Amino acid sequence: MNQRLDITYTDSVIGAEVNHPDLAQALSNDCFATIETTFNERSVLCLRNQTLTEPQLIDFARRFGEIEQIFLTHYAHPQYPEILLVSNIKENGRDIGHADAGRVWHSDMSYTQSPPRATMLYALEVPMENGVALGSTQFASAAAAYDSLPEAMKIKLDGRRAVHRVAGRRKQTGTGQQDRHLREQQPSVLHPVVRTHPFTGRKCLYVNKGECQAIEGLETDEALALIDHLADRIVEPQFRYVHQWRVGDLLMWDNCSVQHLATFDYEWPKHRRLMHRITVGGSIPF
Ligand code: SIN
Repeated sequence: MNQRLDITYTDSVIGAEVNHPDLAQALSNDCFATIETTFNERSVLCLRNQTLTEPQLIDFARRFGEIEQIFLTHYAHPQYPEILLVSNIKENGRDIGHADAGRVWHSDMSYTQSPPRATMLYALEVPMENGVALGSTQFASAAAAYDSLPEAMKIKLDGRRAVHRVAGRRKQTGTGQQDRHLREQQPSVLHPVVRTHPFTGRKCLYVNKGECQAIEGLETDEALALIDHLADRIVEPQFRYVHQWRVGDLLMWDNCSVQHLATFDYEWPKHRRLMHRITVGGSIPF
C-alpha cells in the first residue's frame, strides 16, 4: 500500500525521522525504497509512533536482509527467537533481557567475519523522570569522522587491517560471563581499518577501543595508539546524534557507518525499560 512519507533530518550529520509510515500495514516497494535510501544516507533512522506485533517487526526487518541468529539465546523472546529482549526489568529476581547492552562505543559484532548490516530497536517501555525520557542512545558517524581526517592520515590508513576480537581490550564487566563464552567460540577476525559502505560507497573508520587489539604490520604500542586516536575521532561531539526515546519508536542504525553507546541513567525498580532488538545480516567488510 502507498503511504505518504514525511521525512525530517536531525541537525546532526546523521539521523532522520520518518513520520506516518504505519509498518503494521504492508509498505509498497516505493515507500520501502525511500526508507532504505534514507537509512543508507543518514545511518540512523527513527520510525515514530509504531504499534507493531512481533511478526510485523520481523517482516519489516527481513526487507533489509536476513535476520541474524541471537548469541545470547537466554534473552531471546520466548516465542520469537529472532528478537532479543533488551531490558532492565527483573522477574523473580532475574533479568528478563540483556540489561547491559552498549556500555562502550562500538559497532555491533565487529568481531565477526560478516558483521550485521543494521540493528533495530523497538521501544515498548521507556524510563521517565519528571517527564523526561531516560536511557537515550548515542550515535557517532564513522563516515564523517573519516572525511575529517588529514590527507596524510588517510594515506597512512589505506590498506591497513585491524584485529577484532570479542571484548578484546574491554575490561571485564558484569557481562564477563557472556563475553567469556563468546570469546571461546569466536576466533579473532581482520577487517579494514577504513571500510567502504556497501550501498553508498562512503569510506568509514572501522575501529573501536573495546574490540580492536592490533593492526597488521604495526608494533603493538603504535597500533593501540592509532586505534585510540581514530576511535576518539569517531565520537567527537560534531559527529554525534543523541536519540531520546519515545514509546513506539522503531530506531535502526547502520553498523558500517555509525558506532553507538547506551546511557545508563535509569535504575531498576524505579525505572522500566523494554526494547525488542533485531539484527539484520551484512556482508564482509571491504
Ligand atoms: C545496544 O547497544 O544494542 C543497545 C542500545 C540501547 O539499549 O540503548
